[in-house]
Amino acid sequence: MNVMTGKVALVTGAGRGIGQATAIRLAREGVRLIVNDLDAAELETTLNTIASIDGHATGFVGDVCDPATADDLIQVCLSTYNQIDIIVNNAGYIWNGAMHNHTDEQWQAMLEIHATAPFRILRAFSEWLRPVAKAEIASHGRAVGRKVVNVSSVSGTTGSATQIAYATGKAAVVGLTKTLAKEWGRYNVTVNAVAFGHIETRLTQPFDQEPPAIDVMGRKHKVGLAAAQIKAMHKTVPLGRPGTVQEAAGAIYLLCTPDADYITGEVLTCSGGA
Ligand SMILES: NC(=O)c1ccc[n+]([C@@H]2O[C@H](COP(=O)([O-])OP(=O)(O)OC[C@H]3O[C@@H](n4cnc5c(N)ncnc54)[C@H](O)[C@@H]3O)[C@@H](O)[C@H]2O)c1
Repeated sequence: MNVMTGKVALVTGAGRGIGQATAIRLAREGVRLIVNDLDAAELETTLNTIASIDGHATGFVGDVCDPATADDLIQVCLSTYNQIDIIVNNAGYIWNGAMHNHTDEQWQAMLEIHATAPFRILRAFSEWLRPVAKAEIASHGRAVGRKVVNVSSVSGTTGSATQIAYATGKAAVVGLTKTLAKEWGRYNVTVNAVAFGHIETRLTQPFDQEPPAIDVMGRKHKVGLAAAQIKAMHKTVPLGRPGTVQEAAGAIYLLCTPDADYITGEVLTCSGGA
């Protein structure tokens, strides 16, 4: 039996991109899931794919920035599986612009999705975790090993022009990760982050003339990378290419496995060496 079989994971932003690939990867390894996304139709695709490989997943359509979502997500995990072993805080999007064009709303939105939403989900998780882990320690001397993986970005760890709010949100989640690793070691929960470089998703789709836009909660956001930008960027990537969503999921998956049981408070860069 696979070492991951029977574990329960929550993955946010699992309707497409890195979150979807992560959910599918975990399901392939026997992990049962609650998968969340804003977009019901995209989440349905994830659920259908997981069903097609005989995996188990339940969908939760909702906005992780809604303060009520965190408690609801944890309650759905518990009412469905009565257990939570892995939380992957992945949901996110970009809202770019030069510093002088950034509005307060834009700044708050980027902090909300990239730092506040993971904070609220993990705070809601702690209400269940603490008594359960204490009881496990009392009866077995150690709590069951659990994993948190927060999705950051090289924008947050090294900075990125036109992404001041996004980069700050992605840096904030690193502080959250390192602090919680120190607080939750006693409960045998490892808390790590993965900082991605260029991964091929709708956020980084190539364009020739005008950047495409995505719709997030009724607002359009320009995304994508100009062909020339991609070419220049890849000169700084030793592997010379962007990562696939499967490769991105692999980095998250590594930190969810028992092989990573003694790794906590770390930021794993997954960027092709950039
Ligand atoms: N693609 C990259 O190169 C790259 C690089 C660094 C970091 N990241 C990060 O990886 C994560 C995943 O991004 P991706 O590239 O797969 O993008 P994506 O757009 O393909 O997928 C992100 C998913 O998150 C969902 N989402 C967005 N806001 C949400 C909300 N408020 N509530 C619930 N779901 C929400 C979207 O609907 C979407 O399905 C994000 O946190 C992103 O910032 C991506």
